[in-house]
Amino acid sequence: MNPVARARRLFQDRFAMEPVAVASAPGRVNLIGEHVDYHGGHVLPVATAERTAVAVGPARGRLRAVSEHFPDIEAPWPHAAARAWSDYITGVAAQFEPDAPLLAGGLAVAVASDVPAGAGLSSSAALEVATAAALGAWTGRPPTASRLAEIAFRAETEFVGMPCGMMDQLAAVHATPHAALLIDCRTHAMERVPVGVDLVLVESGESRGLRDSAYSERRREGAEALRLLRPRFPNLLGLVDLPPARLQTIVRGLPAPLDRRVRHVVNENQRALLAARALGGGDHAAFGMLVNASHDSLRDLYECSTPRLDAVVTAARALPRVLGARLTGAGWGGAVLVVAERGGGGDVATRLATDRELAAPAVRVVTPGGGVRVE
Ligand code: GLA
Repeated sequence: MNPVARARRLFQDRFAMEPVAVASAPGRVNLIGEHVDYHGGHVLPVATAERTAVAVGPARGRLRAVSEHFPDIEAPWPHAAARAWSDYITGVAAQFEPDAPLLAGGLAVAVASDVPAGAGLSSSAALEVATAAALGAWTGRPPTASRLAEIAFRAETEFVGMPCGMMDQLAAVHATPHAALLIDCRTHAMERVPVGVDLVLVESGESRGLRDSAYSERRREGAEALRLLRPRFPNLLGLVDLPPARLQTIVRGLPAPLDRRVRHVVNENQRALLAARALGGGDHAAFGMLVNASHDSLRDLYECSTPRLDAVVTAARALPRVLGARLTGAGWGGAVLVVAERGGGGDVATRLATDRELAAPAVRVVTPGGGVRVE
C-alpha cells in the first residue's frame, strides 16, 4: 500500500472518522550546491519517489498525532513546541492560525511515510510540506506553491529551531519527475534540468551526532566572514556574490577557517551552475567531475565530511560506470550520492550494497519524483 492509502487507513482506524484532507510530499537528494542555500546560492536537488503522506481532521480541542514510525502524541491545543516529532506538524499549523478558524477546534493527524528519517533525505521537509498542503486544503483556501514552501520553512526555522536554508522545502514543493531543479535560493527562480544519469544513494549509518550544532557553527562563521568583508565590499548581499576570479586575493585577508569556508561557498555556487549546464547538455563526464570536486571541497574546506563518508565516496569512485560521488545534505553523517552512467545504477547499487567492508545499512537507486500533491 502506498503512504497515501496507509495514512488514510491509519486515520480511520485511530480516529474512527474520515480525514478532511490528505496530502503527500517527497524527500530530496541534492545533486550539487551544498551549504550555499543559506548564502543565497544555487542548488540542484531532485525529489525522491519515496513520499510522506499526512491525513488531517478535527479533534475536539486536542492535538492527536499518530504515525507509523513514532509514538502517539496527545496534548492540549493549541500546542507549543515540545521537542517531539509532532513539532513539525504543530509548527506548520501555527502558520495557519490567524486565518484558519477550522483548526481552532483541535487537530487529528495521521502520518505514513516511505522517506526514512535520519538518512539525509530531509524527511522533516517532506512532513512539513505535506502537512501544510493538507491543512491548506482543509481551510478551503489552499496556499500558493511558494507560500507552502514558506510555511514549511518557517515551521522548521522558527518553531522547530533548525537554522536551515530553504532548499529542502522548495524541492519538496516544486520538484517534477525525471528532472532536477536548479534553484536560485535568493530569488527562488527555478529551472528544470533533465537527469540523464543514474543516481544511487548510500546511507552511511552514522547518526546525526554533531550535525545540528556544527551546522549552526558554519552559519555563524559565514555571517562573521560577511561582516569582515563588508568594509571592502559595502554592497555585498551574500558570500556567493564575491567575484570568483579574485577569490584568492580576497580570502587572504580572512582568518582561518573563514578563508576556507568562503572558498567553498563561492566555488560550490559556481560548480552548481556549471553542473546544471553539463547535466542539461548531456556532458555527464563533466557533471561527474564537478560532483567529485564538490565532495573534496566539503571535506577539505567546509570540513563537514567524516572518515566514514569519505570511505564510501572512495569505494564508489573505484567502481566501473561511476562518474562521481559526494556526500549529500548537511554532512557530518547522512548519505553519499553516487552518480553513474545511465543504465549502470542498478549494478553500482548492488556492488555497494554487498560490499562487506562498507556495510552500508541501505543503498537505493533514486528515481527523481514529483513535488507536493493534495490527494
Ligand atoms: C541541510 C539543510 C539545507 C542545506 C543543506 C546543506 O540539509 O536543511 O537547507 O543547507 O543542509 O546544503
